[in-house]
Amino acid sequence: MLWRFPKNFLWGAATSSHQVEGGTTNDWSEWEKVNADRLAREAAAKFGHLPGWTEKFGTEAASPENYISGIAVDHYHRYEADFDIARSLDHTAHRFSIEWSRVEPEEGRFDEAEIGHYRNVVRALRARSIEPFVTLWHWTLPLWLARQGGMLAPRFPHYFARYAEKMAHALGNDVTFWITLNEPDVVTSHAYLKAAWPPQEKSALKFLRANFALIHAHKKAYDAIKKKLPKSQIGVAKHQVSFELRRNAIANRILKKFAHYFWNRWFLNRIKKYQDFIGLNHYNRNVINNGFSKNPNKRLTDFGWEFYPESIYQALVELKPYKKPIYITENGLADQSDTLRKEFLTRALTSVHRAIHDGADVRGYLYWSFLDNFEWDKGFWPRFGLVDVDRKTLERTIRPSARFYADICQANAIETPY
Ligand code: FCB
Repeated sequence: MLWRFPKNFLWGAATSSHQVEGGTTNDWSEWEKVNADRLAREAAAKFGHLPGWTEKFGTEAASPENYISGIAVDHYHRYEADFDIARSLDHTAHRFSIEWSRVEPEEGRFDEAEIGHYRNVVRALRARSIEPFVTLWHWTLPLWLARQGGMLAPRFPHYFARYAEKMAHALGNDVTFWITLNEPDVVTSHAYLKAAWPPQEKSALKFLRANFALIHAHKKAYDAIKKKLPKSQIGVAKHQVSFELRRNAIANRILKKFAHYFWNRWFLNRIKKYQDFIGLNHYNRNVINNGFSKNPNKRLTDFGWEFYPESIYQALVELKPYKKPIYITENGLADQSDTLRKEFLTRALTSVHRAIHDGADVRGYLYWSFLDNFEWDKGFWPRFGLVDVDRKTLERTIRPSARFYADICQANAIETPY
């Protein structure tokens, strides 16, 4: 059966600066230098239990080089050719992020040449009739700001709003869709609860303070952009988990309410009046059975995440009470051999369609990711791309699933077996 999506639905994929551009100098690039050896040593213990992982990725993941972003996939220099590929795949939207550390390499000094670069990126998208979704902050910080305490720097919200205003002024009405922050709670929890990402501090208090700082920063940036560009559409890209119950026991029900509130509602509730749309990043469900992470895990992606594309349905309908348009700003999987991606897209998009039918105001879908890229502390081995990038030659090869997705984008409809 052919299921049509609403008229003007946007189709495309997403990236972020540090993961694809190459040549960045920020808190992450510094952190990588110090941590690459350790991450290489720990990889087998973390991932070796996954079926086939050792044969496929063991060597790559055991090499410290894998953990240095370096020239990444050199998208900084190749964006024109990359956008030609996006156009050829019938994408009508594209999400990318601006690298704050390029634009403001020293406190208060904005680099006009780098701002010009992003102006050209936006123009290159527009020239191909691709709608830009601009993320202002996808986790990496300029060094001067990291030295002041990063998210916890007393003036973080002020700095962020100043940078946002600068970019709104520079890009003007060429950009309609602005995403201030990417997954605020993922970055704060990895930085301050798990202490896995820079600055690797374990402190519940700092975690809370960082969250409040990001809320404040978002609101100030929202006002600054809106003042300059009243017609702009502004939101955050929010990571949402679909919590499910394994057994309908009272303890599980309480746990689910609690987890759902803190992970899926707390941040969004605080910025209700400061968002024109909700950006949904979605990857996982969590089946609660007297604790978390009791997913059936019958099939796994390369990353070890459960293969269960349908969970996006729940994440979408749970956003209905906010009464805002929803853009799916990330959804995807690591699948180097491209054996699962078509099925993933079919099942995820069927679920998106069902959610629209059931009242979720979904207006676009951006697959993560457009290109294979640098997956943070895991490095290069996980391959999320619609487009394969050869690690040595950086040559781009369109995966079969990308062509399958192109047909969906072109038809604005999905042939569903269900
Ligand atoms: C999301 C991040 C994105 C990428 C995907 C796999 O949490 O926003 O940068 O790492 O996960």
